[in-house]
Amino acid sequence: MATFSKSVSNLRSSEIRDLMGLANKQGIILFSGGMPDNDLFPLKELDIIYHNLSNKEKQIAMQYCPTNGLPQLLDSLSTFLRKKGLPVDANRLLITTGSIQAINILVKTFVEPGDPVIVENPCFIGAMTVFKSYQADLIPVPLTPEGISMEGLKTQIERTDIKPRMIYITPNFHNPSGILYTQDNKKALIDILTNRNIPLVEDDVYSDLYFYEEDRQHLKSIKEINPEGIDVCYTGSFSKILGPGLRLGWMLVPEEIYTKCELIKQTLDACSPSYTQMLAHKFLESGMVYDYVKKVRGEYKKRAAVMVEVLKAHMPESVTFNVPRGGFYIWLQLPEGSDATDVLNKAIEKGAVGVSGKTFDPHETVNDKIRLSFCNTSEDKIRKGIPLIAEAIREVLM
Ligand SMILES: Cc1ncc(COP(=O)(O)O)c(C=O)c1O
Repeated sequence: MATFSKSVSNLRSSEIRDLMGLANKQGIILFSGGMPDNDLFPLKELDIIYHNLSNKEKQIAMQYCPTNGLPQLLDSLSTFLRKKGLPVDANRLLITTGSIQAINILVKTFVEPGDPVIVENPCFIGAMTVFKSYQADLIPVPLTPEGISMEGLKTQIERTDIKPRMIYITPNFHNPSGILYTQDNKKALIDILTNRNIPLVEDDVYSDLYFYEEDRQHLKSIKEINPEGIDVCYTGSFSKILGPGLRLGWMLVPEEIYTKCELIKQTLDACSPSYTQMLAHKFLESGMVYDYVKKVRGEYKKRAAVMVEVLKAHMPESVTFNVPRGGFYIWLQLPEGSDATDVLNKAIEKGAVGVSGKTFDPHETVNDKIRLSFCNTSEDKIRKGIPLIAEAIREVLM
């Protein structure tokens, strides 16, 4: 029998993937997937884009492209990000194969096996899996409704027994908790991290999916503030604003970090698919992205409102949850000490499923929460499925 590397021994299949397989087979209503609804993809727009490509553009799309990205996409994405207020010209942009690859490259850039990496608790499972694959030591800091706990962060940063190599956060419409960091929290975070020599990875895949215009002022990213004395590595993705099947993301990072990341990317896949980069470029350049994102924002806002309405009508009073202002998720807090896995097993018997809280706990222990996604399920199914989860909660916990 072959001997496996330590990084492989640390890997386990995520509960989300396991649940998807099970549920697909049994026709269960899925509140588990954090992906857009198939029915919402801009298929017509993509048809038009492809049919209008010149032969020359089709040839470019079929060829390798520079490691940092298709030049056309680097241009149109720079314009898109500049419009969002990001300091594109003071940084370097690298196109990646999904933003998960950007996170992978950044971890490889900064982290040796055993190095501490500060993460939010709860934290996006995909990023934690990457950190674990590099054998990082995850240091959880609690998340509050305003953002990462400053007290918790200070405690970890001021410890003399460890030296964190990186901090990873998702300030806008957090996965799984749905929260939006306040600007005060972001400012306090900047104050704490300035001149500490701890790179900050700011994962911002949901900021375009706000439901309320007035929230736009709160979406200003730390990268946009562009603080001196902190290396902010900003990551983003086409997955939520066009389609995850394109496998395209990006990082916007200071020049010195970019140089290392580009070298690492060369070793991984030489370049991200030119084909999908060409499509993404045309989607941005034509301005279709703005109409499309406006449309899906409206749709997710409607679905979130339906989920909130049905949760309010059916959940026991002891179950609380965030009312989302954007993004994809509602985070249910069950009574303390509950086991979400028991609840979800019962819910599966009834025909609906979410994801258990421990999936997002860096130490995989606390399990009194459930993540429900409203992005991938029609209003109809939300109305049918949420009462089933509520019934399961009552039967298992009450
Ligand atoms: C917070 C967060 N970051 C990154 C990703 C991964 O995005 P990509 O498809 O670009 O790899 C996801 C996907 O769900 C996510 O929720």
